[in-house]
Amino acid sequence: MFPHVRMRRLRSGKIRDLVRETELSANDLIYPMFVDETIDSTVDVSSMPGVQRLPLDKVVDDAKDAADLGIPAVVLFGIPEHKDETGTCSYGDEDIVQQAVRAIKEDLGKDMVVITDVCMCEYTSHGHCGVVDFETEEVLNDPTLDILGRIAVSHANAGADIVAPSGMMDGMIGAIRTALDDGNFKNTPIMSYAAKYSSAFYGPFRDAADSGFQFGDRSAYQMDPANSDEAIREVELDILEGADMVMVKPALPYLDIIYRIKHEFKMPTAAYNVSGEYSMLKAAAEKGWLDEKQVMHESLLSIKRAGADMILTYFAKDLARMLK
Ligand code: PBG
Repeated sequence: MFPHVRMRRLRSGKIRDLVRETELSANDLIYPMFVDETIDSTVDVSSMPGVQRLPLDKVVDDAKDAADLGIPAVVLFGIPEHKDETGTCSYGDEDIVQQAVRAIKEDLGKDMVVITDVCMCEYTSHGHCGVVDFETEEVLNDPTLDILGRIAVSHANAGADIVAPSGMMDGMIGAIRTALDDGNFKNTPIMSYAAKYSSAFYGPFRDAADSGFQFGDRSAYQMDPANSDEAIREVELDILEGADMVMVKPALPYLDIIYRIKHEFKMPTAAYNVSGEYSMLKAAAEKGWLDEKQVMHESLLSIKRAGADMILTYFAKDLARMLK
């Protein structure tokens, strides 16, 4: 009589459903949107099939589609008409993201959580996430903090429900918390891109957001993919500075980091299934090498199983449709 223990007993039919530990829901999803001030009609992002840059007047419809599918949140990225060395078009009341936030909130109100990416790279002519000293090509930490505070306040003022700083400057969460509190936005939460790695998986995003850099790379401020303990320190600091939610980015190659962060801090934890993770599945599916729906579901499920409470993903609408 062998074996007594048979794991296969629980693997069929409704029993399989009954013992499932992790389940994806549309409520877990955050849908990224690109709002482009330089276009009049929608433009496809060639390296991310299914992803588009939208002109301002198409933003509300797209957010409504997401809401109709049961997606509770969007994250907005802006592509401005004008870029300069210090990203001055990132914090004006009439700049592109601020207008998009207002449009979505006017139409959808409480039915859509609007999160804004707070960073300078889409707005600077050199494409870096902060103020640059051109002699040394250094991205200057402290002068950048003031600007990040201004951006966050301008987003909150336009109606953003959550601000999400992604620039990996030291002290950015504290600076933004202080700026928000001083601006009377004490109740606006901060979702920190706390453990953001210097990753080649961001390649297609830089097409989508037109945020490629003119020199160097981002390794002087984004994390070394080799490090895991350092992620713990990053997240710990951000929590001490006032982060309400923390993020790990990218997601799939960093499931161990998601797991560690969730277990160490028990914070609301987001994971960003980034552009390169999306494009590689899309490309393989286009070639007929992988089943797109199945690998999408399995990938996102794995991110949740690792410990993510929320997933930022370009698959948000596809997954929500599949779960309906
Ligand atoms: C901007 C930002 C980036 C991403 C999100 N916010 C790009 C970068 O750091 O170069 C990447 C998202 C993706 O690849 O999907 N700071």
